[in-house]
Amino acid sequence: MDSIIISGGSKLTGKVKISAAKNSVLPIIAASLLCPFECKLEDIPFLDDVYVICDVLNSVGANISLNKKSNRISIKADNITSIEPPYELVRKMRASFLVIGPLLSRFGRCRISLPGGCNIGTRPIDLHLKGFCALGADVRLGHGYVEAYCNKLKGAKIYLDFPSVGATENIMMAAVLAQGETIIENAAEEPEVVDLSNFLNSMGANIIGAGTDTIRIIGVKELKGTTHQVIPDRIEAGTYMVAAAITQGSVVVENVILEHIRPVIAKLQEAGVTVIEEQNKVKVVANGVPKAVDIKTMPYPGFPTDMQAQFMALMSIAKGTSIITETVFENRFMHVTELKRMGANIKIDGRSAVVEGTAKLTGAQVKATDLRAGAALVLAGLVAEGKTEICEVHHLDRGYVNIVEKMQSLGANIQRIQKE
Ligand code: UD1
Repeated sequence: MDSIIISGGSKLTGKVKISAAKNSVLPIIAASLLCPFECKLEDIPFLDDVYVICDVLNSVGANISLNKKSNRISIKADNITSIEPPYELVRKMRASFLVIGPLLSRFGRCRISLPGGCNIGTRPIDLHLKGFCALGADVRLGHGYVEAYCNKLKGAKIYLDFPSVGATENIMMAAVLAQGETIIENAAEEPEVVDLSNFLNSMGANIIGAGTDTIRIIGVKELKGTTHQVIPDRIEAGTYMVAAAITQGSVVVENVILEHIRPVIAKLQEAGVTVIEEQNKVKVVANGVPKAVDIKTMPYPGFPTDMQAQFMALMSIAKGTSIITETVFENRFMHVTELKRMGANIKIDGRSAVVEGTAKLTGAQVKATDLRAGAALVLAGLVAEGKTEICEVHHLDRGYVNIVEKMQSLGANIQRIQKE
């Protein structure tokens, strides 16, 4: 298992280009199952999670070709041979569950293992299933599997108890080929939902309102192939913005959609960090130690839960005390124990963490417990005194393209080492 070694203390400077959004690419690849024609995706980030969803599609018979040189993927689902992706693949990644909507909608059947809990909580799928049932599917649970059947899905009005990103996407994919109109109320408004809707509309779907809390889908008979460019990754962008702030550096983060990173910009500015907005890029300059600010994670357009751990690393060295409240996931404070090993002063009180800024963090051996926890440890390592060794870095490979090389190009003293 590889580790990342960081010698802290370098101020990051220079430019970094953000890759396409992992959380857009995964549902969009799943959505390519909705038609038998070729779908081409551009600017693909070749991350571990992307390989997993490609393997899932392959396992049901889709033809996928990856071109790593041009960052393109082409998918043709004209010969689907199975409606049951294997458990060994599905258990690797929760987002594999996103194939149920397209398979059910196009083929009237899907059998898939239930995603288990993960490090950030139990993460149920009841809202996905409630949506499929409302569309007329017969959904059964048993032996760790979900089986869903239908003759033809029928449009319905579906109210989500929580604006779940995955449930909104799965129901949207199921509804595009349903008979009649579907309305999803209290839908997730995340940019990745909008990107998926744009992709589906370019295939010939009829979806209105993605990006608001009410999405209207008028079912169509069939979809066609398309070419789509995926939006930039707002979480990767936010992570490099915090890297500039935590090291008191000056970094231009390129290939961003400013509107998508508004909550991160706002919180950095509140912390006293200068953020200069230009077209498709931001310059983040920190002169001095940031001030403590309170954070509360919320569904979009609120502060993203996927940036909570990284901001906690920043608040660990801020002036003052910050209260960080996690409202989206029930157990997303795994990084706290590891940050404390580096000298952070953090106390958990229910769904909040009280972070008292300390003058310095110190390098330590720490463990990445999930993707964003890993990112938080990289950020903490950049500013810590001495050497930080992060193990279990395979979590980072799920969501950050070339993080070591990108950080190195900004002047960080960071390397990846292979361990037996
Ligand atoms: C997606 C993102 C993930 C991000 C999360 C919240 C992808 C591949 N992943 O995950 O990076 O952290 O959005 O922004 O896009 N819930 C239920 N029942 C359901 C579904 C969800 O109770 O049927 C709960 C979850 O347990 C969680 C909350 O809703 O507490 C949010 O989950 P959801 O928005 O569904 O996240 P994901 O789509 O899994």
